Amino acid sequence: MSQKIIPYGKQDITDEDIQAVSSVLKSDYLTQGPKIEEFEKEFAHYIGSKYAVAVSNGTAALHLCAMALGVEPGQKVITTPITFAASANCIRYCGGEVVFSDIDSETYLIDIKALKLLLSSAPMGTYQGIIPVDFAGRAVNLQELRELANQYNMWIIEDACHAPGGYFIDSKNNIQHCGNGQFADLAIFSFHPVKHIAAGEGGMITTNNPDLYHKLLKLRTHGITKNSNEFINHPDVAFGITADKQSRDFPLWYMEMQDLGFNYRLTDFQAALGLSQLTKATERLQRRRDIAKMYTKAFASSKKIVGNSGDIEGHAYHLFVIEVDNRAELYTFLRTKGIFAQIHYFPTHLMPYYAQFGWKSGDFVSAESYYSKCLSLPMYPTLSDQDVQYVIESVLSFLGE
Ligand SMILES: Cc1ncc(COP(=O)(O)O)c(C=O)c1O
Repeated sequence: MSQKIIPYGKQDITDEDIQAVSSVLKSDYLTQGPKIEEFEKEFAHYIGSKYAVAVSNGTAALHLCAMALGVEPGQKVITTPITFAASANCIRYCGGEVVFSDIDSETYLIDIKALKLLLSSAPMGTYQGIIPVDFAGRAVNLQELRELANQYNMWIIEDACHAPGGYFIDSKNNIQHCGNGQFADLAIFSFHPVKHIAAGEGGMITTNNPDLYHKLLKLRTHGITKNSNEFINHPDVAFGITADKQSRDFPLWYMEMQDLGFNYRLTDFQAALGLSQLTKATERLQRRRDIAKMYTKAFASSKKIVGNSGDIEGHAYHLFVIEVDNRAELYTFLRTKGIFAQIHYFPTHLMPYYAQFGWKSGDFVSAESYYSKCLSLPMYPTLSDQDVQYVIESVLSFLGE
């Protein structure tokens, strides 16, 4: 009998999901239909933001955010080295310069103390913005970050790919959900299969800023608008009349490209899948939190697990990370048991692409130390209690605990 494989993450596609996709496939619209707006509205409602813009993936979401905020060649933007490369790459797409800042070794999030030091050691105006990441699903304290960003006149793009449903508690004891637009200018999400909401590929941008919202709508579809109130050309030009100019309404077929955008649209059948998945998001998030509780309790007395994601209020548990000294051996051992743990992430500043800009080993002690020990254990809603127990026992037996 072949061994059961337990991956680190996995989607859960139900019959209702399949039904939702199949009804769109039988409809008149495969793309640019009604499901997109429906998904945007429902997602904004779930997250607590005013606006949401559906796009083709999380990377496209980041790129459009950087464009909407006007990132230009030479501008400097700060992010964490412990994230998926896309959090940094979006700045490079616009010709900007990525500046990394170390993580807090307890939360694994960008370290506000290191950030303050970085900002105060350069002339005002050196940095245009910051991209904090709700890494593993743990919410960045954006209230604190906003205060700092305001002092330096910087914008914030929250990379919330790991954290739909995650939150932090603000200074007035209010729950602040990741991506709710209260503190960050823009936030982004991904619907890659290992994420909380799976749409195959897909992404969403949330914001409370109407100007950015309208810019994003245009940029995701080639920079084209169909809204006659926004047209720049005269109606005569739109009709194709050059002589005998008279003012009148625009022809119905007319649309106008005003910016250099992209085709970063989501399809209607992906939006239908996302919508259907969204109906289960709350219960699935609860299951992730229950699994985190089980791991935390089981590892509480371990002397060899030197750090872990813990049982943290507001954590959305895209990942459950443990830190051990002999990580590589544990990784290999778990594979022999059919447990495919994963490493998140190799520090972005050490990727050969970023090393060419001068980043090197030793630049970020906490990030590099974290990387040498981290291991993401299986974490997904359909992981059974029995499987969680099997993972726990396998880890502890390897560690001799
Ligand atoms: C933190 C983070 N940012 C951005 C992305 C990019 O999202 P996508 O894969 O949908 O392009 C991911 C996805 O892996 C991610 O984990």
